[in-house]
Parts: sequence; structure tokens; C-alpha cells
Amino acid sequence: MSNNVRPESMERITTPALAEAFIAEQCQLLKEQIGDKQVLLALSGGVDSSVVAALLIRAVGRQLVCVHVNHGLLRKGEPEQVIRVFRDQMNANLIYVDAVDRFLDKLAGVSEPETKRKIIGAEFIRVFEEEARKLDCIAFLAQGTIYPDILESGPVKAHHNVGGLPADLRFALVEPLKFLFKDEVRVVGTALGLPDSMVYRQPFPGPGLGVRCLGAITRDRLEALREADAILREEFDAAGLAGKVWQYFAVVPDIKSTGVRDGKRTFDWPVILRAVNTRDAMTATVEELPWPLLHKLTARITSEVPGVNRVLYDLTPKPSGTIEWE
Ligand code: XMP
Repeated sequence: MSNNVRPESMERITTPALAEAFIAEQCQLLKEQIGDKQVLLALSGGVDSSVVAALLIRAVGRQLVCVHVNHGLLRKGEPEQVIRVFRDQMNANLIYVDAVDRFLDKLAGVSEPETKRKIIGAEFIRVFEEEARKLDCIAFLAQGTIYPDILESGPVKAHHNVGGLPADLRFALVEPLKFLFKDEVRVVGTALGLPDSMVYRQPFPGPGLGVRCLGAITRDRLEALREADAILREEFDAAGLAGKVWQYFAVVPDIKSTGVRDGKRTFDWPVILRAVNTRDAMTATVEELPWPLLHKLTARITSEVPGVNRVLYDLTPKPSGTIEWE
């Protein structure tokens, strides 16, 4: 238990110089712990796993084996960014797994939200296991556990993706960020050379777009969601709201309504936009977006995203709504 309590002497990492000192110390410790063995990491591209990856690459280079599973529910450009940053810029030993068809086939026709989550989590473990079994010499499993994970949910991060591995794949854990708070992880990530778009990413649920493509996921509706989400993020960037609003995203429900385009009747989906602020995700308030931005988003989404004829803005705080729709 005691090795899961942040040492009182540990200074808060608030500056690049303090981050460099932390990185140097951790690299030394990681080299000693890992020796000439290999370390496996499920690299989602989220803040924590990206910073762990960059730190381990600094410490042990290509002895770190990163597995990036594309389950088809990532946001537009995310798998490409993981490959660009880690394989191309950091020379990481990166295994990219295109599991899109596998996940979408398993999810076809499934509309119950918790069942969708379970399928995504279980399939993730299966894909990760398959990749792990192909590798010899793995002795460690790295995880992006951070201090709030320990404070909130016990010693090991309840990672939907790597929890519950079978006995032969239960490697010793490497958790170099386990005493850091999120703001410290970001300072360390920046010092390690990760781009702001990765280090300051808004929270993104493990099941990804799967819980925002409501009901049974279809490929065409998922694509509409991915495009609408990309437009929303682009416009938030342009308006200087990225990094200021806690979480913002699009949702596409499984309903259609009538509309009109070029003088012809349409029968298409609506896109629901949501932007919220919160401290701990237990309650949330709605961001008061400027009308001109809402008009621009509506115009762009209805003209650029196939299959969409309406845009709605969700004004519901938490409670009574949750942040996600499923
Ligand atoms: P709710 O919808 O419960 O969301 O108000 C609170 C926060 O949790 C995120 N969330 C999830 N994250 N797996 C995750 O990793 C999930 O299944 C999941 N469901 C919700 C949500 O995005 C919000 O930040």
C-alpha cells in the first residue's frame, strides 16, 4: 500500500525544468527496472498512454512495444496522429492493428448501451492479447495510471482495455506516472516533445464514438458522426475555445426527420452538439456558445456531412442529463 502513496517530499511538477528533472530520474529508474527486457503498452493516443509511451521511448527506446488498436470508434485523424507522432517522429516500435471490421461486425445490430460497452471492452482485450501472444521476450506491461486513478479506484487503473488479461499475459506492471496529477502529466508530456493537440486533448471515453452513435451502430451514421465531430473540433479551435471548454462533442441519434435541400425533400439524421464544463464530471454545466458559432456549425454540418439535415444544441446540465447520451 505504502508504494501507492505519493511521497510528501515530491515537489509539484509545474515548470519545464521540474519536468526535465522528473524525466531524468524516471529514465534512470526505468532503465534499471527493465534492463534488456521488453515492455508492452496499449497506446490509445489519449494523454496518459501517450505520455507513458514518450517517457519509455526516452528511457528504453525500441524495447517499448506500443500496440495501437484502431477499433473504428476513434475520432477523425487520431490513428494517423498516433502513427505520425510515435512511429515517424519518435521512432517507436509501434504495432498498428486495423481492427475496424472486427469491432463493427461484433457491434452490428446491438443497441443496448452497456452491451455495446462490454463488446468493445472484451474485443479490445482479445485483440491486445492476440498481439501480445505474437511477441517473445515481453516482461513488463506499461500503464498510464495516474494519481487520481489510485485515489479514486484502488491501486491499478481500471483500464477497460488491458484489465483482465489471462494468467500467461500478466506481466509485471510499469506505471511511471502513478504519482502525478493530470496537470503534471501534461507538463511532462510537453517536455517530452508531444504536440499540444495530444497533451491538451479533452477527455474521450474508452468506447469512443461508439457511445455517441446512439443505438445500433451503422457505418454510414458513424461516418456522419466522425465528420460532424471533426467540424465541431475545427470550429472550437478557430474560436479559441479548445482547451477552455472541458468536453465538447457530437452525437447522432438513430432517428430521421424530414428536411429540404435544393428544392427536394430529405429524410436524414439530426446531429446533436454538446459542450460542457465540470470539475469532476459528477455535475456539469452547459457552455453558453455564441449564436454566430452555433449558426456556423449548423451551416457547415448540414452542408458538409452527408445524411444530416438538422443540428441541435443540447442545453441540459448534469443532472438531469449525463454528459454522454449513452
Ligand atoms: P457521464 O456520461 O457519466 O460521463 O456524465 C462522465 C465522464 O465520463 C466519460 N465516460 C466514459 N469514459 N468509458 C470511459 O472511459 C466510458 O464508458 C465512459 N462513459 C462516460 C464521459 O465522456 C465524461 O467525461
